[in-house]
Amino acid sequence: MRVSLRRAASSLLWLLFLTLLVKTLHWLQDCPDDPYQSSSAYVLVRDLHNQLHGYNRSSPLVFVGGVPRSGTTLMRAMLDAHPDIRCGEETRIIPRLLALRQGWATDRAERERLSEAGVTQEMLDAAVTAFLLEVIVRHGEPAPLLCNKDPFTLKSAVYLSQLFPNSKFILMLRDGRASVHSMISRRVSITGFNLSSYRDCLSKWNRAIQGMFWQCQQVGTHRCLEVHYEDLVLHPRASLERVLRFLEMDWHEGVLHHEDAIGKPGGVSLSRIERSTDQVIKPVNLEALTRWVGHIPPDVLSDMKNIAPMLRKLGYDPNANPPEYGQPDAVVINNTDRVRKGEFKMPSSLKGQPKVQMNETAP
Ligand SMILES: *[C@@H]1O[C@H](CO)[C@@H](O)[C@H](O)[C@H]1NC(C)=O
Ligand SMILES: *[C@@H]1O[C@H](CO)[C@@H](O)[C@H](O)[C@H]1NC(C)=O
Ligand SMILES: *[C@@H]1O[C@H](CO)[C@@H](O)[C@H](O)[C@H]1NC(C)=O
Ligand SMILES: *[C@@H]1O[C@H](CO)[C@@H](O)[C@H](O)[C@H]1NC(C)=O
Repeated sequence: MRVSLRRAASSLLWLLFLTLLVKTLHWLQDCPDDPYQSSSAYVLVRDLHNQLHGYNRSSPLVFVGGVPRSGTTLMRAMLDAHPDIRCGEETRIIPRLLALRQGWATDRAERERLSEAGVTQEMLDAAVTAFLLEVIVRHGEPAPLLCNKDPFTLKSAVYLSQLFPNSKFILMLRDGRASVHSMISRRVSITGFNLSSYRDCLSKWNRAIQGMFWQCQQVGTHRCLEVHYEDLVLHPRASLERVLRFLEMDWHEGVLHHEDAIGKPGGVSLSRIERSTDQVIKPVNLEALTRWVGHIPPDVLSDMKNIAPMLRKLGYDPNANPPEYGQPDAVVINNTDRVRKGEFKMPSSLKGQPKVQMNETAP
């Protein structure tokens, strides 16, 4: 009697355990880790040889970004020189759509209105995925690895990493004093940056890079790589070796000669409107490294660590003007001599910059 009671109790416990196990498995099936998987977006394109290439949200993608004037165009031109990677020109509409999407998700009134209208966040994610895929795939040639370079997309790295589960990110970091000097001296308008004030631009630089840096860290080192512009121009080979390893792409010598691939099929396509075009027609050189020195007002210099605390965080001494960026590789010194002799001229196909100048998307 006693034995059968114990047996009954143990059977009951087993039954309970099995029921719980089945319930848990069901729950895991109903609530998958990936709430964005409802996107069935698929884009099919033909290449020059009439070969078909299909892309969906699981395709590998790389997003290159950073604060404008931080070497994002140089990075994407070097990647474009790789036969299996295509980035292409800035689209501008991708970061703008991402900013809109963020507004729809965070504004309470907007969320409520959408929900009343039967528009779910899941639908919006699927629609955004389809939009991004369409634009990224179709605005250039197909390639095994597609890339997008719009500086401010890195503000949305976490969201993008969820929409595209096999995407990776390259965050360009640069001494903010150089980025700001470049935007001010070249009059590159960025919404929210007051180009008449070094102090204002440096504090806006600080805020923008802080947000992107945080996003990159959230995504994690296996999917987001930080690259310092200074390292890229001082040591292009070592930097690109690191980048291609991160992207799991084979080494290709062409990435060190992006200037030779401009305008070639499968090479580097440049825009007549983008502000960096006249710079990336040249090989990697040292001209832009310390040009900012001597241009920042003394009251801003003396307050640098408070205006732009991210400088120190990224490894740039806020009190050194300039800091020691390192010794360049011999090939870069050679390139710089050739650039100073005026060996590299704008190709005629890229001349005649149109008058339209669009602001960079708001930070
Ligand atoms: C995406 O395409 C790949 C192959 O091209 C396929 O194996 C995969 O199932 C597709 N994924 C989705 C989510 O459609
Ligand atoms: C560009 O940004 C500046 C500074 O924020 C602003 O004054 C100007 O109206 C903007 N221009 C366009 C075309 O958006
Ligand atoms: C921009 O900065 C200058 C110099 O500090 C200042 O005079 C001007 O009012 C500022 N403009 C705006 C729109 O804040
Ligand atoms: C510099 O580069 C040019 C072109 O690649 C090459 O012909 C020349 O030998 C190089 N000079 C030095 C000193 O390396």
